[in-house]
Amino acid sequence: MKTILDFQKKKVAQQKITMVTCYDSTFAQLVSGSNIDAILVGDSLAQVMHGHKTTLNTSTNIMALHTAAVVRGANDKFVVADMPFLATRKGLRNSMDQVEKLIKAGAHAVKIEGADGHLELIKHIVESGVPVMGHLGLTPQSIYQLGGPKIQGRTTDTADKLLKDSLAVQEAGCFSLVLECIPAVLSKKITEQLTIPTIGIGAGPDTDGQILVLQDMLGMNKGFSPKFLKKYLSGADLITEALNSYVSDVGLQKFPLKEHSYE
Ligand code: KIV
Repeated sequence: MKTILDFQKKKVAQQKITMVTCYDSTFAQLVSGSNIDAILVGDSLAQVMHGHKTTLNTSTNIMALHTAAVVRGANDKFVVADMPFLATRKGLRNSMDQVEKLIKAGAHAVKIEGADGHLELIKHIVESGVPVMGHLGLTPQSIYQLGGPKIQGRTTDTADKLLKDSLAVQEAGCFSLVLECIPAVLSKKITEQLTIPTIGIGAGPDTDGQILVLQDMLGMNKGFSPKFLKKYLSGADLITEALNSYVSDVGLQKFPLKEHSYE
């Protein structure tokens, strides 16, 4: 997929959209060689790449650095970059400066968490020619306000608010919407009512597409196994095994051999 029109086409054709996060050029090359539709340079890089506990510890400059690396590795994929924590909350001029940095780094769109206080901004960004992906449900930038990484939209009131917000971000101009950690029945309802595609994570099978954090679906973090996650590789075990084989080979003088050495 190369443009936002492809997202829309897939929804209309009822073909599922597949996305993963990606933060670096090496993995971007691997994603580029796969059938994955599009990439998110997520602010989850604060946790996955930089070892922070939450997504709050990143900045637009860091996001732009990783976005540029990803685009260099996967210039055939549609790349969305996250607007990081508070990048949208310091006035229009400042927000537009952040958008500019991400787009100039090579992103094709930006993602913004939450609807409250963002509708005018989304409209302005879209009118400025930049596609915006929405993100509702569990919005990790509000982790302290939400009281932790909890499933959202479980009560009638919160489910109604999520549906209302979904329609509002669509109305503001979002070309697609991430729904994170909400009941499957609610994401189905939202997906049916929206004309833009929904991309789910922990939101059940009925969204128009799915997104997973790349390192999570590759099983790189053995301690992270939430219910919504399916691991497609035992990455951590494979890498540890490879590292230990290397240590053993060096110790036993099985590496380097003659074929690894220069005359
Ligand atoms: O930053 C991120 O990885 C995300 C996905 C979980 C959707 O926003």
